[in-house]
Amino acid sequence: MCGIFAYTGNKGKEAGKILLNGLLSLEYRGYDSAGVYMPESGSVKTTGAVAELRRKLPKDFKGTSGIAHLRWATHGEPSEKNAHPHADCGGEIWVVHNGIIENFKELKEKLSKAGHTFASDSDTEVLAHLVEEHLKNQSAGGGSSSGGKNFEKAALAALNEVRGTYGIALQYKREPDRIIAARMGSPIVLGLGDGEHFIASDPAPILPHTRKVMFLEDGEVAVITPGKHRIFRLDSTTVKRKATEIDWSAEEAQKGGYEHFMLKEIMEGPEVVRNTLRGRLIPAKGFAKLGGLESVTKQLQRIDRIIIVACGTASYAGQVGEYMLEGHARIPVEVEIGSEFRYRKAVVNERTAVIGISQSGETLDTLEALREGKRHGALTLGIVNTVGSTIARETDAGVYNHAGPEISVASTKAFLSQMTALALLTVFLGRQRGMTEKEGREIALALKELPEKIEKILEQRGAIEQLAKKYSKNRDFLYIARTYNFPVALEGALKLKEISYIHAEGCAAGEMKHGPIAMIDGNFPTVAIATKDSVYEKMISNIHEIKARKGPVIAIATEGDREIAKLADDVIHVPKTMEMLSPILNVVPLQLFAYYLAKEKGLNVDRPRNLAKSVTVE
Ligand code: G6P
Repeated sequence: MCGIFAYTGNKGKEAGKILLNGLLSLEYRGYDSAGVYMPESGSVKTTGAVAELRRKLPKDFKGTSGIAHLRWATHGEPSEKNAHPHADCGGEIWVVHNGIIENFKELKEKLSKAGHTFASDSDTEVLAHLVEEHLKNQSAGGGSSSGGKNFEKAALAALNEVRGTYGIALQYKREPDRIIAARMGSPIVLGLGDGEHFIASDPAPILPHTRKVMFLEDGEVAVITPGKHRIFRLDSTTVKRKATEIDWSAEEAQKGGYEHFMLKEIMEGPEVVRNTLRGRLIPAKGFAKLGGLESVTKQLQRIDRIIIVACGTASYAGQVGEYMLEGHARIPVEVEIGSEFRYRKAVVNERTAVIGISQSGETLDTLEALREGKRHGALTLGIVNTVGSTIARETDAGVYNHAGPEISVASTKAFLSQMTALALLTVFLGRQRGMTEKEGREIALALKELPEKIEKILEQRGAIEQLAKKYSKNRDFLYIARTYNFPVALEGALKLKEISYIHAEGCAAGEMKHGPIAMIDGNFPTVAIATKDSVYEKMISNIHEIKARKGPVIAIATEGDREIAKLADDVIHVPKTMEMLSPILNVVPLQLFAYYLAKEKGLNVDRPRNLAKSVTVE
């Protein structure tokens, strides 16, 4: 997803270098083109990577301020012409933008009639022309550009005219040290340095310079100069905001010695589960303590139904959560994809809790689904990894994952932590609703043992790599499982699709006979999750059905299960745990399998084509 970074400073630092390094730390969001503008030097854009942008910069590309952008196409194909920053007719007003200007067509028409000429197909460009138009009208009315007031006024007037979502940074050639940022739906963070200020779409590019940040809310505008920052609303009223100290290090976002972020993040699994559990379990009493939910204890007692909203991998964690919460806390749960829930007329009331699960805390469809729940009086909760993100701030209460920043586009460690948080929530709510102390204790103890068990799976990564090599020529895969592991089958297939571009389908093993089995032949392998649980025998029957059609089978089986080796072509063994927690173990070999297959194919594992880490458009 698009990334913004802007800098203004009076410390004699080279802004070009700062901006490019900032873009590098935003690369993980996924992008198709990049660009930078500095008032003293002009603008350079590329459809390539940031490294290519660096190569293209002329030697004398220098300055003390500027705006930079990574684009992920929404309006107009990925091209140099459509890359940001975009400018007005005079090449004086420059803008970088995340989001979508919904009324750009009508604005473009109006501006074209007024004599503006457009250089791109992008919706963003209208913003620059709109500011230009307002500046022109002001000077026609006799205004002068003293202290940047006219630029600010023109920017504010333009922002009040656009509809849609945006995180933007604007710069005016005649006032090079001033940058205006605004937020409506797409995140904007200010970085507060000493004699320098930053604007970015997330804290990553700011952290090497300062840990002091401020998050803008929707409808807010910020003006930064090297020595000052101000925040106000679209109606010009002043906003007073305290700075937040970000405590994760920039190094945490490095690869830590692994070839790819994805492998590093899979290898972090044990630590991530430990971090999600830390301080939250009282095993002796069979309790879970979730400090983030204390403020809504009373409301939680009133709820009679939970709706989980999420997208992508997070939605599969939600489905696992549905099985956990219904199976052990006996609360009715539904899981909805954010983009569906927000547009249908779901029955929601004040006895409903809508829980949004999101690694980034910025996924627009999840956010809007939560807002929809709130409009109907529901209690809104978040299971979010990114502290200070929009979902974290807008929900009534929540549970942080504590998984650390996830860089690889394909989510792995966040998925483990989401399921762990849902298990904690199951104990937390269950114990308020009739779960016995014995059952609470059993889950708590099993949760505590998970990290070591994940380690045992990770030790087998060499064997899983060999397996990936063996199957790397296959073009289609089926993933099957039942009950708790059905969502894991869906997630296993998603992981394979997103990073290796191999066709994969997940299906409930019981549904296989209603369609998918027709595809099975000797070239169509099936990954079957068949660990020892309440549906083990059923899974064995399904494996027989596949073998009868000559389909190769890779089984995920419980340690010590030797029988299954007689049936399946290949077996990956995982330690035994409670059925409810088995997804947290069983997904790990599937993540590794997808990783090694994509690596074997020489693909860009961390930045798969067409995908973005943080999807802040619908
Ligand atoms: C994108 C990412 C996925 C992620 C999904 C939801 O599609 O590529 O890995 O699962 O968004 O993201 P969230 O940040 O809300 O968990």
